[in-house]
Amino acid sequence: MTSRTLFVTTALPYANGSFHIGHIMEYIQADIWVRAMRMAGHTVHFVGADDAHGAPIMLKAEKEGITPQQLVARYAAERPQYLDGFHVKFDHWHSTDTPENTALSQDIYRALKAQDLIATRDIEQFYDPVKGMYLADRYIKGECPKCHAKDQYGDSCEVCGAAYAPTDLINPYSALTGATPVLKSSEHFFFKLSDPRCVQFLREWTAGSNAQGTPHLQSEMLGKTREWVGAQGGESSLGDWDISREAPYFGIEIPDAPGKYFYVWLDAPVGYLASLKAYCALKGLDFDALLDPNGTTEQVHFIGKDIIYFHALFWPAMLKFAGRKTPDAVNVHGFITVSGEKMSKSRGTGISPLRYLEIGMNAEWLRYYLAAKLNAKVEDLDFNPEDFIARVNSDLVGKYINIASRAANFITKYFDGALAYLDTAQGDTAALSAEYAAAAEAARAAFEAREYNRAIREIMAIADRINQAFDAAQPWVLAKDWANADAARRAQLQDICSRALAGFKALSVMLAPVLPELSRRVARELFGNAADFVWSDAGKLPQTVAPFKHLMQRVEPKMLDDLFEPPEEGPQAAPDAPATVPGGESLAETIAIDDFAKVDLRIAKIVNCEHVEGSTKLLRLTLDVGEGRHRNVFSGIKSAYEPADLIGKLTVMVANLAPRKMKFGVSEGMVLAASHADEAANPGIYVLEPFPGAEPGMRVR
Ligand code: MSP
Ligand code: ZN
Repeated sequence: MTSRTLFVTTALPYANGSFHIGHIMEYIQADIWVRAMRMAGHTVHFVGADDAHGAPIMLKAEKEGITPQQLVARYAAERPQYLDGFHVKFDHWHSTDTPENTALSQDIYRALKAQDLIATRDIEQFYDPVKGMYLADRYIKGECPKCHAKDQYGDSCEVCGAAYAPTDLINPYSALTGATPVLKSSEHFFFKLSDPRCVQFLREWTAGSNAQGTPHLQSEMLGKTREWVGAQGGESSLGDWDISREAPYFGIEIPDAPGKYFYVWLDAPVGYLASLKAYCALKGLDFDALLDPNGTTEQVHFIGKDIIYFHALFWPAMLKFAGRKTPDAVNVHGFITVSGEKMSKSRGTGISPLRYLEIGMNAEWLRYYLAAKLNAKVEDLDFNPEDFIARVNSDLVGKYINIASRAANFITKYFDGALAYLDTAQGDTAALSAEYAAAAEAARAAFEAREYNRAIREIMAIADRINQAFDAAQPWVLAKDWANADAARRAQLQDICSRALAGFKALSVMLAPVLPELSRRVARELFGNAADFVWSDAGKLPQTVAPFKHLMQRVEPKMLDDLFEPPEEGPQAAPDAPATVPGGESLAETIAIDDFAKVDLRIAKIVNCEHVEGSTKLLRLTLDVGEGRHRNVFSGIKSAYEPADLIGKLTVMVANLAPRKMKFGVSEGMVLAASHADEAANPGIYVLEPFPGAEPGMRVR
């Protein structure tokens, strides 16, 4: 097989939030593929980056009183603990807010312009006169023109499902300030995707294949793109793409157009190139040669099904007409669900990747579990706790790891670590070696085709056969009364165990893309390999084995209970509520003044505040309520405040709440904060602060 050069990316995550399990799934899928390709001797450049630009990031930073750059830096700083934790090995992690990306995005734009593929048009759009900003659809709300539900978003109604333009809303208002938006006209820049050259190219590219003979798109995706670009000779519904945004915007300036910025989705995919370019500079590689449009590098993107429009249409067209190399494959995966439900942070059904690691769950269990379920289709994948326990404990540990522990112990005890194979009629050593080489080739091909579940199924079938052969030979019977065993019996025991260990080694090679740490230990510690496994190691029968060391724990079912513990206490845990009530939440039932008097509210001084290691939501507050001692209170406000913002401030706390034991310690009360019930759509948590003059310990009544 000839050696290939690959440029592999995963979607660039928005830099306004931590990684969730969906991101981790995508990275694991891509990482397995990259490792499988490297094991075949191919050169892979695997890069990622933060998607830094856009209005949501700008607005979130503004709310926190920091610069967008600071916000992006905060999330960038968290990335390694997730990536390292799950053994996802990018060669480089970059950002779209970088000089490389600015230069590349502007170059691509200029090239498109030179091709006469950029048009300008005045468009009318809602503008928030208070904020001084044009409003994207998601920042406009109002009454649904069809069913008259209140507080619906600018593009569609969540109650009746109607789709409309923001200008169709009755009594529209800005979700940012509540102001009534006004229609204002401004000049926008468009990428002329409706140009016949673009339509023609996209019809060809979407149906095309790469040099390996693999289609650029999965068949489901080809079907989807057909709905947009039409078949050859058919109709295209592709409109021109609005690529500009008005200031204020956190993004890249459009050359020769003061006050205009590229829409974030223009510069985001260019971030793939920017990351590679920065990596090339670090490694002394020739970026231009690597991405020569007539060269042989294969450009492979891994993305989720929600962003195919950008990757299967806009991105290839941008590259093509800018005279650059186009993608060789856009590999689309489905979404991960948890116990059959879509992830929801506020309802706590999601799995926090950090929590997974913190409670001591092995990253390779998740990698194995995902591999056992992933295929090359655009299908959703469900994380199911019982299924997870079963696959890890029965298959991974019970079938695979078990082989090594059983066979290596005999070899260590009776043969001082030496392996030897008998050439028998049923199978000589050459046949054994050929069998495993063939199995590894089948696994390699399945990984390359992203049919990971097929690879795992075949691997486990081999593990079953090895265990059966081992049991059928009854090695424990052969080992009885060892002092009196004749040479034939000894040789037979050694052969049985050697074959099992040769099988274990081959399985470890085949699982190496999925279990990189474990297979590294097997290669180096058990079989004395100088390097990590490559595919050709599967057919090389081992000649020695080191004494068995513990390789992998079973999952304790309790761990999954811990993983799914209800979300940490905090104002964001409110349930969903009808959209027509104040703050998104119905008023609670009426109470008497005596009921209210039971709640002892006090002015508290925040004498200290710090991050809680391992918690993505909580801050630890040290409060003074004038009692001559300090109170420790955990509050779910980390998303809204930096500790330094709070230290020295006064607030209001519930002082007679029963102390509550939490994962990180005991919380002695609760700080009051305001938030919208639908926190996802209306982010923001606001801690209460008294008017000047209030003192710690005063009762609030
Ligand atoms: N910033 C854009 C991508 C720009 S690429 C030039 C974006 N970011 S994202 O953070 O929202 O999503 C990043 C990736 O995670 C996407 O591929 C998306 O499909 C994937 N996932 C988000 N939720 C997911 C699941 N629940 N399951 C699997 N993948 C999911 O989109
Ligand atoms: Zn409606």
